[in-house]
Amino acid sequence: MNDRLIYLDNAATTFPKPREVLDKMLETYIRVGVSPGRGSYDLAMQVEDIVGEARKKLARFFGAPDPNRVVFTANATDALNLAFSGLLQPGDHVITTRLEHNSVLRPLHHFQERGWITCDHVPFDCKGFVDPNEILLCIKPNTRIVVVTHASNVLGTVQPVEEIGRLCAGRGIPLIIDASQSAGKIPIDMTALQVSAVAFTGHKAFYGPTGTGGLVIHPDLDIKASRFGGTGVDSKSLVHTSSYPHRLEPGTINLMGIIGLSAGIDFITQKGLAAIHRQEMTLLRQLRDGLSDLKHVDIYCADDLSNHVAVLSTNVNGVNPADVGDILDGDYHIAVRVGLHCAPLVHHDLGTINGGSVRFSLGIFNTQEDIDQAIKAMASMRSRS
Ligand code: ALA
Repeated sequence: MNDRLIYLDNAATTFPKPREVLDKMLETYIRVGVSPGRGSYDLAMQVEDIVGEARKKLARFFGAPDPNRVVFTANATDALNLAFSGLLQPGDHVITTRLEHNSVLRPLHHFQERGWITCDHVPFDCKGFVDPNEILLCIKPNTRIVVVTHASNVLGTVQPVEEIGRLCAGRGIPLIIDASQSAGKIPIDMTALQVSAVAFTGHKAFYGPTGTGGLVIHPDLDIKASRFGGTGVDSKSLVHTSSYPHRLEPGTINLMGIIGLSAGIDFITQKGLAAIHRQEMTLLRQLRDGLSDLKHVDIYCADDLSNHVAVLSTNVNGVNPADVGDILDGDYHIAVRVGLHCAPLVHHDLGTINGGSVRFSLGIFNTQEDIDQAIKAMASMRSRS
C-alpha cells in the first residue's frame, strides 16, 4: 500500500490547496481582516479594494463587461439558486439537460413541484454530449431560461455552449451555464459565448477554499433580489439596495474565502490554463488507455477526449462501485468518488442508477506515478469481478 495518498477526487474539490493560496489567505487576513464595504476608515477601504480587485479579476477571467456584476456566493449551488429565484415567475418554462447536477435539478424540481414552472430536460448522446438542436426543439413562447452544465461532473464532456449560446441569443432567451467543472480548466468568455450568467465555484479548478463561488451576470440580464438585508449602502431605506453587486449580496461576504479564490486565480494564471489542461488531459488519456486494456473495466463516454475535462467514470464488472472505492482507499490509498455524483439522470441514462460509477478526476498535482498506481489497482480487481 502507498504511504502517500493518491488523490483522484479533484472534481469534488481540488486537494491539496497550493501553499501560495493558503499563505496569501492567512497573511492578508492577519493584515486587513476587517469588514469590507462597511467602514470608511483606511483599513476598511483597503479591504474593499482587495474585494474589488477580485471582482475585476473574475470579470476578466469570464469575459464579463462589468465587475460589479460579479456576485460572490457560498458556492455554485448557491449561485444557481440565486439566479433561478431572481428570474423565474409562475408560468415560466425552463430548458435544461439530463447531464445536470442536483444543483440545477433540485431547485428546478422544487419550483416545478409547486406548479410554478414547467421544465424540459434534453438528453445527451452516447458520447456524452447534448445536441443544441434538441434544445431548439423544446423552446416555447414562455421559455424563460436555458440552463446547461458546461462540463459534466460524471462524464467530463464539455458541452457545445457556443452553439447553444447562439441559438438562445437569436431567440432572446438567457443562457445560464453551470461552470463548476470547467471554470479554471478551460477558457470561458461569456460575452463571446453569448452566455447571460455563469455560476462558478472557487474550490475546484480555481484552487481556492470551499465556501466560495459566485454568479457572473451579463449587463443584459437583470436578476431580482431574493434575499434581503444589510449592504452598507443607502442604509436609511428599508427597501433593499438595487445596485449590483449589493442587490444580490446581503450580509458580510466571505472575505478570507475571496482572498483565497483570488490567490487561486493568480496561481492558475501563472501556470497557464492551457498548460494545466494539457498536463491533466495527457494523464487522463493514459488512464483511459490503461483502463481500456482491462476487460473487466467499463469506461463511460471517453472514446474521444477532445472536448473533455480530466474526469473519467468507470465501473468494474460485477463489483459495486462503493466496494471498488473501499478497495482503492483501503488497499491502495487512492481517493476517488463513487456513487451517483449528485447527477441521478446521467446515471439513469447510463444504466448505472443503482450503484453509480467509480469516478477518477485529476488536478494539477497528479503525476504519472498516480496514474500507474490507479491502473494497477483497477487491474487487481479482476480477481474480484
Ligand atoms: N459536485 C461535486 C462532485 O461532482 C461535489 O463531486
